[in-house]
Amino acid sequence: MRTCLKQAGAASVAEAARLLRAGEVVGIPTETVYGLAANALSDEAVPKIFAAKGRPQDNPLISHIASLDMLPMVVREVPGAAYRLAEAFWPGPLTLILPRSKTVADSVCAGLDTASVRMPSHPVALAVIRAAGVPLAAPSANLSGSPSPTTAADVLADMEGKITFILDGACSVGVESTVISLAGAQPVLLRPGYITKEQLEDAMGCTVALSDAVLHKLKDGESAASPGMKYKHYAPKADVTILKGSFDAYKEYMKSHCADGVYALCFTGEEPALPCPCVTYGRADKPDEQAHALFSALRELDARGAKTVFARCPAQEGVAMAVYNRLLRAAAFRVVEV
Ligand code: TXA
Ligand code: MG
Repeated sequence: MRTCLKQAGAASVAEAARLLRAGEVVGIPTETVYGLAANALSDEAVPKIFAAKGRPQDNPLISHIASLDMLPMVVREVPGAAYRLAEAFWPGPLTLILPRSKTVADSVCAGLDTASVRMPSHPVALAVIRAAGVPLAAPSANLSGSPSPTTAADVLADMEGKITFILDGACSVGVESTVISLAGAQPVLLRPGYITKEQLEDAMGCTVALSDAVLHKLKDGESAASPGMKYKHYAPKADVTILKGSFDAYKEYMKSHCADGVYALCFTGEEPALPCPCVTYGRADKPDEQAHALFSALRELDARGAKTVFARCPAQEGVAMAVYNRLLRAAAFRVVEV
C-alpha cells in the first residue's frame, strides 16, 4: 500500500472524506496530536485502525464530532454537567465518557457500555468530520506503545505502507486530550491534558476525582478505569529514568553517569551546564512548551540513538500534570530522587 501525504486544502479534505466514507483509514491533524481516523459508525472500518496501530482490541477509541447534533450518534445520555463542559471547552482538547449509543460501532467501545467523545478545534479535523458527515473514531496515529505523533512526518514514520492517506497539519497542544468520565456517580479524571482538573472543577462547580492510574503504576491484576492506562505507552527505544530534584542535583548526577549513549532530556536553556548530549523539551517554568515538545523530544532521542536517558522532572499541577503523566509512562514509572 502506498501512503500519500497531502497538504490540507479543499480538494484534499474532500478526498479524505471520500476515503473515510468508503471505510478507509486516514491520518488527520488535531490540535492535540495526530489522529488515525475511520468512520465511528462502521464495524468494517474501525478494525482497520486497530490493525494499522497494532492496538489491543480491548482499548476503546475516542469519537470525534464537528457539531453537537452528532453527539447522539455516539452517546445516549447527556447530563447537564456534560453540556456545561462542552459549552466551556468545545471545540477543544477535552474528551467526555458517557453511556454509549446504539449507533456507534461496537469495535469503537471495545465491549464497554460507555463511549468517549470530543469536538476537536483543529480546523482541518473539523472540516474532515463535516465533509465525511459521520463521527470519526481516532486514536493517536502512532504504533501502539510508541510516542504520539505531533507532525505528519512522525505519522509517516509509523504508518508508511499501513494507511493510504495523511493530511498535513500542525498540532499546537502536543499532548492528547484530557479525558473525564461522567458515566459514574462522580466525575473522574482518567487522563490529564491541556484542560486542567481545576478548570473542569470550575466549569462544573464540583470536585473531580483523580483516577489512581494517572500518577501511579497499576498493581498486577488491578483493572484500569481507562483501558489505555494499563499498557506500556509513549516509550522511546531508550531506557528513560526521571530524576526528581533541583537542577544542581541533576547536574551532579549527570556528571557521574555520563557515558556512551547517555542523554539528558532537560529543560531548554540547561544544555550548556550539562556534560552529555542533550535533548530539550521546553523551558522549566513553561508547562505549555513542555507539552508541545515532549513527544517530538522522545522521538528525537530515538533518532539520535540514545540508549539511556535521564529526564528532568516536570511539575505535577495544571498542564504539567499531563506532561508528568506521559513522561512517567515513557519512563515505565522509574523515578529517582536526586
Ligand atoms: O487528543 C486525543 O485524545 C487524541 C486525538 C487524536 O483526538 N486521541 C487519543 O486517542 O489520544 P487514544 O486512543 O490514543 O487515547 C484514548 C484514551 C485511551 O487511553 C482509552 O483507553 C481511553 O481514552 N478511552 C476511550 N474510550 C473510553 C471509555 N469508553 N472508557 C474509558 N476509557 C476510554
Ligand atoms: Mg494513544
